[in-house]
Amino acid sequence: MAKKKLFFANWKMSLLPNQAVELAEAMVDKIKPRADQAICLLPSFSALSLVQTVAGKSQLQLGAQDIFWQEHGAYTGEESALTLRELGCSSVLVGHSERRQYCHETDEMVNKKVKTCLEHGLQPIICVGETFEERKDGQKDFIVMQQLEKALSGVKLTKFDRLAVAYEPVWEIGSGQAALPDEVWYTLQVLKQLLLNQYSPEVVRDQIWLLYGGSVDADNILGLFGHPVLEGVLVGGSSLSVDNFNQLIQASS
Ligand code: 13P
Repeated sequence: MAKKKLFFANWKMSLLPNQAVELAEAMVDKIKPRADQAICLLPSFSALSLVQTVAGKSQLQLGAQDIFWQEHGAYTGEESALTLRELGCSSVLVGHSERRQYCHETDEMVNKKVKTCLEHGLQPIICVGETFEERKDGQKDFIVMQQLEKALSGVKLTKFDRLAVAYEPVWEIGSGQAALPDEVWYTLQVLKQLLLNQYSPEVVRDQIWLLYGGSVDADNILGLFGHPVLEGVLVGGSSLSVDNFNQLIQASS
């Protein structure tokens, strides 16, 4: 069976818990994924449990925006894989550029988080992307390849593991202007070559999804999905309204 297209709604820190519940209720009501689509809501930690009570029995999946690599103990402010599993999460964002920028998350931390997700049956969504300055300096391919290589250092995949890699150019996030499709496809092909250095073609085809994120909306999504290398999207701003997110999903094919 062909891989499902993945749609992740990254709500970041944009909603209060009661607003997240309201939005989840509206989405459960209105958004019906087709058999070839999977839709996953990523609320902040504080709203996970509440959103789970709404989305838990629906067709919508639940994920988290971050994870810590220890299972329990004196790690103030962190959340473990055990907690995320208990709250019904199936996937976790790892290494989002906002965490790299504001929380000084390093490639080594990202690598530990990826391993932790896989050990606990969670799908890590590894985010990579260059800043505007890095791009201007002609370093884009080098930066994204290096981030991915380090994130996957020593990561072995069993046949049960699922992984996603999201190309999110930092300067496109929240800009209202997505990267041009040709550029997205080219960069995903570069990342795919790297994956093929480490994993078999079958594993890359069946167990790893290549995503794009950065100002995806209902107007640009069809163009982005114009090449099969793109297998899903990571949506910020356009996932904060049920109508916008629904329109985006409807417009994707
Ligand atoms: P925007 O869709 O708001 O640009 O956010 C993208 C993003 O960071 C998703 O993780």
